[in-house]
Amino acid sequence: MLRGPGAIDLGLTVNGEAVRVHVPPRRTLLDTLRQSLGLTGSKRVCDEGTCGACTVIVDDRPVYACMTLAIACEGKHVETIEGLTKDASGEGERGLHPVQRAFIDADAFQCGFCTPGQIMSIVALLRATPSPTEDDVRRAVAGNLCRCGAYPNIVAAGVNAGRRKK
Ligand code: FES
Ligand code: FES
Repeated sequence: MLRGPGAIDLGLTVNGEAVRVHVPPRRTLLDTLRQSLGLTGSKRVCDEGTCGACTVIVDDRPVYACMTLAIACEGKHVETIEGLTKDASGEGERGLHPVQRAFIDADAFQCGFCTPGQIMSIVALLRATPSPTEDDVRRAVAGNLCRCGAYPNIVAAGVNAGRRKK
């Protein structure tokens, strides 16, 4: 909804909570999350849709938040890395999500800058494919660049996270 020149009021759900933001029409979802909502877990690296560091889940699909306008998310469910620990077991427990645990166990990061995006891509994969193969995980993170070259461990973490969730 427009409110005043050059800005809009938007309602969306972020990590399970209804939020309202007042943003310029061209504000990206990434800027809205980081600047308006203080959710800085989604990283900005390229800011042009090539690295995947900003990956979040919108209505169960992984998207690049830097390439998504906030206005396109009105009424949608947005999940960020911060939301994963809210209900790790699905039964009201707080703690690390199985994919986060799998990343730790597999040493699947070095600098960690790509990690939130990698994890969100794998979380989305596991919802559609609960027991992914290595190829499934490779495809899921094909849009998530890791400059440190942690791919073998990232793939292992994705496969192990599927086993862990069984
Ligand atoms: S910061 Fe969004 S794809 Fe690189
Ligand atoms: S762990 Fe450094 S970019 Fe992936």
